[in-house]
Amino acid sequence: MSDAITVRRVDADEARERGAALSHALADVLIDCVEGGASVSFMLPLPREKALAFWRGVLAAVTRGERVLLLAETTAGRVAGTVQLITAQPDNQPHRADVAKMLVHRDARRRGVAGLLMKAVDQAARDAGKNVLVLDTVTGGDAERLYQRAGWHSAGTVPKYALMPDGAYCATTFFYKHLA
Ligand SMILES: CC(C)(COP(=O)(O)OP(=O)(O)OC[C@H]1O[C@@H](n2cnc3c(N)ncnc32)[C@H](O)[C@@H]1OP(=O)(O)O)[C@@H](O)C(=O)NCCC(=O)NCCS
Repeated sequence: MSDAITVRRVDADEARERGAALSHALADVLIDCVEGGASVSFMLPLPREKALAFWRGVLAAVTRGERVLLLAETTAGRVAGTVQLITAQPDNQPHRADVAKMLVHRDARRRGVAGLLMKAVDQAARDAGKNVLVLDTVTGGDAERLYQRAGWHSAGTVPKYALMPDGAYCATTFFYKHLA
């Protein structure tokens, strides 16, 4: 991918009206990341139907106002990356949100796409009135450097927290960020 990238938010109307097309485009990115070895909740092999079902669920949550879904797109409209902000939280954590499923297609990596998504997710959090963000990621993975660059702090590591797509245990590091 050599196109310029822009980041935008999928609103509730688009999630309802373009759900099928969006689910397929996002499934392409998710499957590519899992096949590339990313530990992002799914195991190998990842059937397309399972990936599609995941994104349908995310889009339904967007229509309910429970999640913010961001897309990084090429000028040709291809989805190069995505991230989510989970805004629906317990009553005693109205100021907090989780950042989840930061995914960039292997074809589009190392061009700053994830960096753009991180800036946009901060803005989406501010817009939603959130000032404490939390996420977790594979310990020692590429994403750790991304989060540190974006001003996140490590809160600690849990050994054997999850599995890699091939079944090997992996440690997970929890990160947080306080927005000014
Ligand atoms: C982690 C991930 C999201 C990073 O995406 P990305 O778009 O490649 O990230 P960026 O381009 O912003 O940064 C990646 C690297 O490219 C570098 N870079 C950024 N823009 C660049 C440019 N224009 N030219 C050259 N290098 C560049 C960054 O400095 C960074 O370097 P580092 O790896 O040495 O730290 C991506 O690898 C991915 O999707 N991995 C699989 C899924 C995953 O693990 N997600 C995290 C779940 S918590």
